Amino acid sequence: MTALPLYRSPDELRAALAPLRARGDLGFVPTMGALHEGHLSLIRASAAQSETTVVSVFVNPTQFGPSEDFDAYPRMLQDDIAAAQSAGADVIFAPDKAGIYPEPYRTYIEVEGITGTLCGRSREGHFRGVATVVWKLLQIVDPDRAFFGAKDAQQVRVIRQMVRDLLGRWEIVACPTVREADGLAMSSRNAYLSKKERARAPAIQEALGDAIARIEKGERHAGRIRVGIMERIEAASLRPDYVDVVSLDDLAPVHETQGDILIAVAAFAGATRLIDNVCIHIGDQVEERLP
Ligand code: PAF
Repeated sequence: MTALPLYRSPDELRAALAPLRARGDLGFVPTMGALHEGHLSLIRASAAQSETTVVSVFVNPTQFGPSEDFDAYPRMLQDDIAAAQSAGADVIFAPDKAGIYPEPYRTYIEVEGITGTLCGRSREGHFRGVATVVWKLLQIVDPDRAFFGAKDAQQVRVIRQMVRDLLGRWEIVACPTVREADGLAMSSRNAYLSKKERARAPAIQEALGDAIARIEKGERHAGRIRVGIMERIEAASLRPDYVDVVSLDDLAPVHETQGDILIAVAAFAGATRLIDNVCIHIGDQVEERLP
């Protein structure tokens, strides 16, 4: 197999993509690297729907808070390139910081109303950094569609809103969360977990599963659903950051679960913050859906 073309600068990538775009649809999977099965499922989805799939690998400094793990975040570009290629990627874009944030850098995108809740409450500025980098990457790659994982449901919601508000023409595709055999949502941060923490971590998904089972049996009181999840997580010695039951539309808390609902959890296993969620439509029936 010949190695995938790797571009480091936005201009080089734009020039390389021009003839490829003429051949057919372009799919795009933005990542911060340390690729796992979750990322590979996005790349496969893109490759199935697009003539050319571009994967970006960029650990975006502006979405990390000052006390977060930017320096420790795993970086393994050669492994990522091989994994992306095996999943069907055609082009890798791995810019450096100066290529994305030329100095002196002064422009950011703020999506209002839906970024101060859930993860935005404890990760101030996180979604400003995500929106800014995703907008730039979408502008550079200019794909027909871009793929994001449902594990980051709030991120998907924020990106959809930004693209809609700023009149972007790219389709935003959400793909299902990929899980380990015991249910833990795949994440590059799972690598930080000790053996004991890793054994406790599936309790988050189990708690969400219990919540769905209760809703299927007729429970509609969001407060009771929250408390049930919280208790289950704490019983596994995880420390909840938040457990929220919100409307998928505006991410505002609901009292009664009806319509399109997001139940989202962030919890610490030791020092590692894990997130997971379920999106459900509650009508005559209870159906899982994508954000
Ligand atoms: O989901 C991620 O890995 C990142 O937030 C993204 C979308 C690549 C932006 O840096």
